[in-house]
Amino acid sequence: MKKADVLLGLQWGDEGKGKVVDVLTPRYDAVARFQGGPNAGHTLEFDGRKVVLRSIPSGVFRDCVNYIGNGVVLDPVLFRNEARDLEREGVDLHKILKISKKAHLILPTHRHLDAANELAKGKSKIGTTGKGIGPTYTDKISRNGLRVGDIFDEFDRKYTAAKERHIAMLRDAGYDEDPLASEAEWLEALDYLRGFDIVDSEYELNGLLDENRSILCEGAQGTMLDVDFGSYPFVTSSNTIAAGACTGLGLSPHRIGDVYGIFKAYCTRVGSGPFPTELFDATGERIGEKGHEFGAVTGRKRRCGWIDLVALRYAVMINGANRLIMMKADVLDDFDTIKACVAYKIDGKITDRFPFDADAGKIEPVYVELPGWKADLTQCRCEADFPKEFSDYISFIEEKLGAPVCIVSVGPDRVQTIER
Ligand code: GDP
Ligand code: IMO
Ligand code: MG
Repeated sequence: MKKADVLLGLQWGDEGKGKVVDVLTPRYDAVARFQGGPNAGHTLEFDGRKVVLRSIPSGVFRDCVNYIGNGVVLDPVLFRNEARDLEREGVDLHKILKISKKAHLILPTHRHLDAANELAKGKSKIGTTGKGIGPTYTDKISRNGLRVGDIFDEFDRKYTAAKERHIAMLRDAGYDEDPLASEAEWLEALDYLRGFDIVDSEYELNGLLDENRSILCEGAQGTMLDVDFGSYPFVTSSNTIAAGACTGLGLSPHRIGDVYGIFKAYCTRVGSGPFPTELFDATGERIGEKGHEFGAVTGRKRRCGWIDLVALRYAVMINGANRLIMMKADVLDDFDTIKACVAYKIDGKITDRFPFDADAGKIEPVYVELPGWKADLTQCRCEADFPKEFSDYISFIEEKLGAPVCIVSVGPDRVQTIER
């Protein structure tokens, strides 16, 4: 019987998940997003086109069914805008997309609560994407949420209760923006959402596996943003790790097969929070410029640094990642030498563990320096094209992480993907 494979980020998000899901999708019958929401921005490039997907799974350009699972939080307005753009490009979404009845709805007031929470935190703000993610998951966990399936039954009553509760919270917080300014548009977008196939996705997905059909579960964000195992409290509000595919889709751990863990050949982070290998110098700027490291959703400049093998080893362990995917090595093409963090020094002691309190001020990364390859990787199309120094870099990472790098990406386009 087939199992569901999971593809997820091992760093702080933006590893290139969208690109690789699009590349791998022809091998699967279905692609399913299991957590997160429009905080995600997954970029796909092919045939001279560039598309950024936020709530919609990255399998929509291939011949397969796509699911938005119960673990996802959905903003009807952003969903409608994204879906209409795709339909204009000829993607027949009504045919290939199914949405879980149990996915939670992001209300207009959730976005304002997100803003109010950030304001209240002042200097210690998370730097969220401002999409209402935290407040929506908070309502889910506190059993106050509204689900997609609710839009068909007594919706007005449920919506009014949630809205009024939120308005009171905003008033208590002294928040002065009008939280209902976009309500009319949101209600209109619900009508658009009603036109989609809204299903018991847990039955459908388990049914597909029963019929020996294959599923790729698409993660959003990354392991170091996981609400349990990330750099808390500077995290998102969902389980971004492999276990999230079980709860976010209704799949038993027995039904999970391979776990693809994806990482950049260096490291980035957007928003606040610890980032031990962050570079504040010209090298960091150079990586950011060459890698076009600006957020796909917010346009914010991403913080850049060297690869962190301590955090990556931790992420490989938490996820049981057995297949690694290395992205964006081409960004390092011009470097004479490349650094990799292999341990941390904390209060004078060397450790290879990611600490409970990863406060950046306390961690001194221990680096090894490796020779650069000084060649244009973007033209490589098979492993034999790799310069020796680059092959050595891959072997070094495999050895440190204890899992094979089975895919190497050398540019944003579909074709710039090498399997080994
Ligand atoms: P995701 O959120 O994990 O899907 O990643 P994003 O789409 O937010 O960010 C990855 C960015 O890197 C996008 O702009 C991609 O087009 C780009 N990209 C993906 N793979 C590569 C690669 O191998 N090399 C380069 N230079 N860019 C890449
Ligand atoms: P993809 O799927 C990178 C970050 C935000 C912030 C923190 C919490 O494209 O990799 P939230 O809005 O989720 O409450 O913000 O998480 N963040 C991401 N960073 N890529 C993402 O998604 C992210 N989604 C959230 O910047 O630090
Ligand atoms: Mg992204």
